[in-house]
Amino acid sequence: QVFRLEDYRPSDYLIPLTGLTFRLSPDGTSVVSELTVERRSGSTENPPLVLDGDGLVLKRVEIDGTSLDPAAYESTPDRLTIKTPPATQQFRVLIETEIAPSKNQALMGLYRSNNVYCTQCEAEGFRRITYFLDRPDILSVYTVRIEARRDEAPLLLANGNPVERGDLADGWHYAIWHDPFPKPSYLFALVAGDLGRVADSFVTVSGREVELGIYVEHGKERLAAYAMDALKRSMRWDEEVFGREYDLDVFNIVAVSDFNMGAMENKGLNIFNDKYVLADEETATDTDFANIEAIIAHEYFHNWTGNRITCRDWFQLCLKEGLTVFRDHEFSADQRSRSVKRIAEVRTLRAHQFPEDQGPLAHPVRPRRYREINNFYTATVYEKGSEVVRMIRTILGKATFRKGMDLYFERHDGEAATIEDFLKVFEDVSGRDLSQFALWYHQAGTPNVTVAASHDASSQQFTLEIEQSVPPTPSESRKRVMHIPLAFGLVGPDGKDIAYDSVEGATVEDDVLHLHKRRHTVRFSGVKERPAISLNRGFSAPITLSIEQSAQDQYFLARHDSDAFSRWQAFNTLLTETLISAFRQSRGGKPIEFSTDLLELAGTIAADETLEHAFRALALTLPSEADIAREAASNIDPDAILAGREALMAAIAQANADLFTKLYHDLSSDGAFSPDAASAGRRALRNVLLDYLSTLPNGAALAATHFAEATNMTDRAAALTVLAHRHIDTPEAKEALTGFEARYRSDALVMDKWFQIQASAPGAGTVDRVKKLTTHPAFALANPNRVRSLIGTFATLNQTGFHRADGAGYEFFVETVLSVEKRNPQVAARLATALRSWRSLEPRRQAKAREALVTISRAENLSADLRDIVERTLA
Ligand code: ARG
Ligand code: ZN
Repeated sequence: QVFRLEDYRPSDYLIPLTGLTFRLSPDGTSVVSELTVERRSGSTENPPLVLDGDGLVLKRVEIDGTSLDPAAYESTPDRLTIKTPPATQQFRVLIETEIAPSKNQALMGLYRSNNVYCTQCEAEGFRRITYFLDRPDILSVYTVRIEARRDEAPLLLANGNPVERGDLADGWHYAIWHDPFPKPSYLFALVAGDLGRVADSFVTVSGREVELGIYVEHGKERLAAYAMDALKRSMRWDEEVFGREYDLDVFNIVAVSDFNMGAMENKGLNIFNDKYVLADEETATDTDFANIEAIIAHEYFHNWTGNRITCRDWFQLCLKEGLTVFRDHEFSADQRSRSVKRIAEVRTLRAHQFPEDQGPLAHPVRPRRYREINNFYTATVYEKGSEVVRMIRTILGKATFRKGMDLYFERHDGEAATIEDFLKVFEDVSGRDLSQFALWYHQAGTPNVTVAASHDASSQQFTLEIEQSVPPTPSESRKRVMHIPLAFGLVGPDGKDIAYDSVEGATVEDDVLHLHKRRHTVRFSGVKERPAISLNRGFSAPITLSIEQSAQDQYFLARHDSDAFSRWQAFNTLLTETLISAFRQSRGGKPIEFSTDLLELAGTIAADETLEHAFRALALTLPSEADIAREAASNIDPDAILAGREALMAAIAQANADLFTKLYHDLSSDGAFSPDAASAGRRALRNVLLDYLSTLPNGAALAATHFAEATNMTDRAAALTVLAHRHIDTPEAKEALTGFEARYRSDALVMDKWFQIQASAPGAGTVDRVKKLTTHPAFALANPNRVRSLIGTFATLNQTGFHRADGAGYEFFVETVLSVEKRNPQVAARLATALRSWRSLEPRRQAKAREALVTISRAENLSADLRDIVERTLA
């Protein structure tokens, strides 16, 4: 079934009140739902009331207190139709269903994770609990009563505020929760089990005291301290930066170990993948700490952007997700280093969103059609969606953007809104017409901008010839011209931006050049000397840029651009171009030679004390094999890419051996661990240097020492990665892998790192190693984190292993995807996207990859989720 945006139509009925009573039992939970149903005002007909279900067992139906004649309704597991509802304006429907949480392996609806009852309802999981109008524009006030055996589930949580609790007969007890804010069913949540509690409190700006709770497995309370701190910082930040205050008496977070995604923003009761809650230096890396901070903030920020104002339908998903990602990005930028954060964001966007936008799964930020909504929780909706909000701020300026956000909250609080509503507030506060800009929501594909610069000394004119184009994407072959805001600077010989007298050919406001036409000839006058052009500073627009620029200018910008992002970009472009030609050369079997300027520049950046450690670490991190493949675009041979990349690593290390060795030692610390950004940056730089130094003689020994002396997981995992990736056949690597396993075998989240590190080890041997690891006692096909760590990492990060020339990687992958699918279609569908760039491979691998996709598509009883991905990928 295909769902289309233009088919949206308001429902015939509303459900202003919902009462739910759960009697929890692993194999037979009874759910009694009491709905107050209302005819939409103005409507005089009484059409049938059609409620969504998914695999439900119906026990009884009553209307206004009397049980319904079987002839008066029709029920299937997936639908309940009440043929002729009462002709009154309002009536009450009671529905009892029975579900089996312990058998729920799809992890949607009500399920059990580690003996804890928990729920995941976004997008359409509520219909796996009870029959309902399971669509985001049905806002209802929920009262929830939970009954459970006290020994099995001393803790009973739901959305909103606690109302009452007490004992029942036979060792059972109950709790009642009430959420005064009308919400869509996808925000419903319930948790029941035996968990440890970390308690804290927060006083909001207006003096409301909020009780905070984070619930984790007993004994792991200490590991939630960082998450709690991040929560309080998020709450304060949203007050200060967006004027948003929390609105309930309690805010609870529960960490569970079986979870399809990162986390979920259920009103007042966020449920998290425990990977994004639990951390200390012994078990979590600096990246883990940063992710926890960002995701805690993200889910908390949803309280306003998602919950108080929700989405009219799932086509509007980016209304809450893109905006909330933008908000969590800004939060992290304020808590850490803004420029480093921006570089990291752009690397993520390019690594995940660009290949999506440039491949068969491309779709607009606001899609117009879908078959399975779960497949649209994508980098495009989230990450590009955030970039679009960022561009609105760039175009309007910070102050007007804030006014627009204020108006959005004021105008749409309590509503289920659309992208049109969102854009309208910014048009209203700025007086601008954003209709061309709106194409960023409606049109798929990454725009490309080509630029040629020329300078005429006699007329003192500097000219840019600019042209934009948007490549065709599935079912959108003709593209319209977009509004592209390009932040820029004309960099003079001293590294400072030069002033010019005037500009014609395009609008320039606050150092932002606005493209509105396909072609612009932009002339700057009063420019005496030829400047180097620094374009798309801060990555102001999510585009690809093809700019004719001399190597001299690129080196100059890499050394001197005052915009940190562009400086990083200039060096990264030099590296990428070098790696692409190294890859083409190594295919020809010729030895590779690198420019000494480039090797020297790497040393200069490493040693530049005016730059943050984290910036230097990012600059020195070579483009990944996948980055190189994406930029090279076609006829990809991962083995040749790896060879070229390894050669450049070694060449940079050799040219800077003494400098890197000295820096590496200078950066070691014997101080106490702190997860703050500056300390993390120092560790990051040292670990990048380790990676380089490990290519030199005795590299394995150096990494082994680093591993042995590590006092935190960041350093330990970095050393293990170097050993497993570059020295896998040495005794040092074997010893480190075994030691790590012995030390952490009972800590599933740490074992995920052990799986990841081995799954990403390059080379033909990895397929067999990964296969073998699927039988390791710590691995479980039923757990999404395990599957993503071992199988997901192998398929997305291991270019040489996964794309092994003989197809063995694909064969193993197909088998695994199909067995994951039997339990959990959503996770399987996500895994299968790993094949989306198959058309860019060299012909032999391309044929094998296609075969793999065809094999999946022919499997019996294929889920809608996996079928959708595979068919679009092949189309
Ligand atoms: N709304 C959640 C978040 O971004 C993600 C939930 C995704 N759920 C799903 N079934 N795809 O924070
Ligand atoms: Zn979200």
